[in-house]
Amino acid sequence: MTNSSVSEPFEAVAPYYDLLMRSIPYLWWMHYVETLLDYFDRTAHKVLDLCCGTGNLSELLAASGYEVVGVDRSAAMIEQARRKTEASQSGVRYYVQDAAELELNETFDLIVSLFDSLNNITEPSRFAEAMRRAYCHLNPEGVFIFDLNTEYAFIRKLFDQTQLDARAPLRYRWRSQYDKATRLCTVQMEFWAHEGNLERYFTETHIQRAYSEQEVRAMLHAAGFAEVHAFDAYTLHPPERRSDRVFYVALRLRAAGAR
Ligand SMILES: C[S@@+](CC[C@H](N)C(=O)[O-])C[C@H]1O[C@@H](n2cnc3c(N)ncnc32)[C@H](O)[C@@H]1O
Repeated sequence: MTNSSVSEPFEAVAPYYDLLMRSIPYLWWMHYVETLLDYFDRTAHKVLDLCCGTGNLSELLAASGYEVVGVDRSAAMIEQARRKTEASQSGVRYYVQDAAELELNETFDLIVSLFDSLNNITEPSRFAEAMRRAYCHLNPEGVFIFDLNTEYAFIRKLFDQTQLDARAPLRYRWRSQYDKATRLCTVQMEFWAHEGNLERYFTETHIQRAYSEQEVRAMLHAAGFAEVHAFDAYTLHPPERRSDRVFYVALRLRAAGAR
């Protein structure tokens, strides 16, 4: 038997998100973020995981001794994250908020936003606002680290993925279309999930915008950041023409003896 639904981005998929992310090396990502902090001689104790999803990185950060707050626009994703923190007693505090409307009465040493979450802000003015809000939620020596999919990734259709193995607990087919004029990549996602004897079919449409390095740098500087650095993902090398993911490191204060 099958039932079907069309859902908002990250709503229907939330209970299955961790299944999809099974092979994602979050620990390794956390170490890369720590490498970037070290590179700029910055330390962090209190961290905001912006667009935290189901809290996979937040939980790892908390287990490593950081004080962590997680924020995500999707209530369904935050529900999953809260379940995790109840089970682990990690003490991570989660809030449902939009990055472009971020309003927490506290500041952080590090704001981190991973897995191209901020590409989901498709309005440049809201993206710029998210940069400003991040700036305002950082301590004076604070650092904002995030990664973005590049236009190259959209053109190369890196979003197109299929898992239709009948034995898989979650099957999916994702098809993307990139519009160079609007710089929007629309991904039609279909999912088939086993729930007991029931097969649940649902779809989500995710839209991401490609932001050029130049645009991102300009928005971060306009937000007040003193220094902006960009890296080809998971390296300490500058992005290349064929980089599909770029990490940005924005420093509120110029680094002493910056490299
Ligand atoms: C691909 S998931 C990544 C989640 C998490 N960072 C991870 O690495 O697993 C993208 C997340 O960004 C969230 N998101 C998208 N746009 C957002 C916004 N404007 N404000 C806050 N969260 C947002 C989505 O709800 C989703 O949970």
